Amino acid sequence: MRNNRLKLVGPFSQVLTMEGLPLKGPLSDDSMEILEDAGVIVSGGIIEATGSFRELKSLVSDVEAVEGQCTLVAGLVDAHTHICWAGSRAGDYARRLSGESYTEIADKGGGIWSTVLATRRAPEDELAKLTALRANRLLSQGITTAEVKSGYGLDTRAEIKMLSAIRKADALTKATLVPTCLAAHIKPRDFTGTARQYLEQAIHQLFPIVKERQLSNRIDIYVDEGAFTVSDARFYLEAARRMGFDLTMHADQFTGGALRLAAEMQLLSADHLEVSREEDIRLLSESRVIPVVLPGSSMGLGTAFAPARRMLDAGASLAIASDWNPGSAPMGNLLMQASVMGMAERLTMAETLAAITFRASAALGLSDRGRLSAGCQADFIAFPCADYREILYSQGSLTPSSIWKNGERIYNL
Ligand code: NIG
Ligand code: FE
Repeated sequence: MRNNRLKLVGPFSQVLTMEGLPLKGPLSDDSMEILEDAGVIVSGGIIEATGSFRELKSLVSDVEAVEGQCTLVAGLVDAHTHICWAGSRAGDYARRLSGESYTEIADKGGGIWSTVLATRRAPEDELAKLTALRANRLLSQGITTAEVKSGYGLDTRAEIKMLSAIRKADALTKATLVPTCLAAHIKPRDFTGTARQYLEQAIHQLFPIVKERQLSNRIDIYVDEGAFTVSDARFYLEAARRMGFDLTMHADQFTGGALRLAAEMQLLSADHLEVSREEDIRLLSESRVIPVVLPGSSMGLGTAFAPARRMLDAGASLAIASDWNPGSAPMGNLLMQASVMGMAERLTMAETLAAITFRASAALGLSDRGRLSAGCQADFIAFPCADYREILYSQGSLTPSSIWKNGERIYNL
């Protein structure tokens, strides 16, 4: 039951609304609206107003008091994760430390395929529990909305099992999970036909079930050596678009070329982009596509970060996501990764905070969260500090002391 009474939450030393900031381009810290000694009015799970606590208090009698000095920001959004999996790839990680590459390990029995085998063996309920546990870990860092991909099933039955497990996990956690079908992660080793035939099978067998059971409205494809080609992606994504899905892509992680297609097809987002070429970044900046960079994957592989600074300076948007997965990105700590990448790439605090709030929600096609504005979902998090700059300065070690989801305080230290 939604509580439709007006409630004032506060007072907060600072409220960072992110109001009025553009979706694309560089952001200076002084462009951020910072309300001092402020509060938020919520009703029915929606934000009604933000403003001076003292003024709002004269309007609303129901006050949810907040103790101590806190800074309020919108609930964080992790726009790219693979947290539905079984098994472990700690062995892959140890091999990488000893000098083997991600692709060599995949060729020799590790990699995505080994997670596929473990995930296929796991019962749906176990997968749902594992996913919810990881979602709760993200929630404790302040992530109130997380995207979750399938892609470790890679046949119709196992992909449906994964998407159903993600739906069950969504009911087990207080975070919101946004499911994405990544049946086109790699061509499974036990599929005897061509890559194109595998994609056709997904289009004709899997997509209609996904639609009918409303398991996901998003389709993703991994374009790279050892995965799918740009021409496979065009074929697959055009078919998915005709069926009404939203589209995204793993692009330019190890080899370039896919971002160009993402820009041409105006996908919702293009993710990874570690090796994107200058001319493709220009095309990106002229498009509506949100680039989602994944520092957790660079940290897990020991490779360079995506050129986030260059993207913003070219006029593109920027979202940062954790990519939490058992292989390339085992850490699962978005705030830490965003803070560290922010320093490496010289992103302003405003750019980093935008990249994990409203610009990240735009990458998921969601305009109702990521800002503390009237009409947005009342998902917000309070950090135990009087100055917002402490959040990124702590490089992920400062975690929220309170979390509200749909206007209800679900976590309080
Ligand atoms: O986003 N690059 C491909 N897919 C994932 C890794 C998945 C895995 O290694 O299990 C990624 O990095
Ligand atoms: Fe990924």
